[in-house]
Amino acid sequence: MNPLLEATAISKSFKSVKALKGVDIKLMSGEFLALLGPNGAGKTTLVEIIEGIQKPDTGTVFIKGMNWKEHRHKIHQIIGISLQETFFFERINVVETLNLFATFFNSSKKQVEKVLNQVGLQDKLKAWTMHLSGGQRQRLALAIAMLNEPELLLLDEPTTGLDPNARREIWDLLFNLKKTSPTSMILTTHYMEEAEYLCDRVILLSQGSILMEGTVTKLLNESGCKNLDELFLAKTGKRLEENQ
Ligand SMILES: Nc1ncnc2c1ncn2[C@@H]1O[C@H](COP(=O)(O)OP(=O)(O)OP(=O)(O)O)[C@@H](O)[C@H]1O
Ligand SMILES: [Mg+2]
Repeated sequence: MNPLLEATAISKSFKSVKALKGVDIKLMSGEFLALLGPNGAGKTTLVEIIEGIQKPDTGTVFIKGMNWKEHRHKIHQIIGISLQETFFFERINVVETLNLFATFFNSSKKQVEKVLNQVGLQDKLKAWTMHLSGGQRQRLALAIAMLNEPELLLLDEPTTGLDPNARREIWDLLFNLKKTSPTSMILTTHYMEEAEYLCDRVILLSQGSILMEGTVTKLLNESGCKNLDELFLAKTGKRLEENQ
C-alpha cells in the first residue's frame, strides 16, 4: 500500500540554526502519529513544511502522491490544519467563524453543524471568539480543521496550556474521530500521555533529527525504560515533558 504521506530528506535552516537535518517521515492511511521533542527540536518547522506553509531547503513532500508545487489546491482539499497558535477574527462569533471557513472549503451548513457537535461548541454559537476560553478556542480551531472532513489532520500542540479536563475532552474528541472516520493524523505534543493514548506510533525529534521512532511499547521494551520521558532523558540528557 502507498503511504498517505511521504516526506523525504527534509532539511531547513534559519541562518545558522539547522532546524531540520534530513528528516524522513512516512504515514500510512488511518495511522495516528505523534511528533515529540523538546522546545526547538523542529516539530513546528516539520509540520509546517508538510502543510505547505514553509518550503524546505532540500527534500520532498508527497501527500497521496501529490506535491505542493503542482497540486496545492487538491492537497488543501484533503488536509486539515491547526497551528500552534490560532488567531481568529475577534468580533465575529463562533458560527460566523465556521461559516466563513466553510465558504473557503465549500463545506455545507450540515457539515458546520456536524463539526460543532463533534467539538461540543453548540452552546457557544453566538459567543465572540475573543470571549472564548483557551479550551474553547482550541476546540474551535479543531472544528475548522475538521470542516472539510480531511484525510490528513495536522495538529500542532492541540492541547498545550489547557487544564486536565479540557485536555481530556480534546483527547476524547480525537479518539472518537479515530474510531469513527478514516482520518489519519500527525500531532505534536509535550504530553507523553497524549501520545500514548492517541497515537499508533511516535517519532522523537532532537535538534532537527529523528532520534527514535516506533510504537511506544516497542521503544520502551527495547530500552528497558519505564516511560518515553525517561528514555529521552537517557539518550539526550533532556526531558520531553514540561514542568519536571
Ligand atoms: N522563522 C524562524 N526564524 C528563525 N529561526 C526559526 C524560525 N522558525 C523556527 N526557528 C528555529 O528553528 C528551531 C526549530 O523550531 P521549531 O519551532 O520547529 O521547534 P518546535 O519543536 O516546534 O519547538 P516548540 O516545542 O517550542 O514548539 C528553533 O531553534 C527555532 O528557534
Ligand atoms: Mg512548535
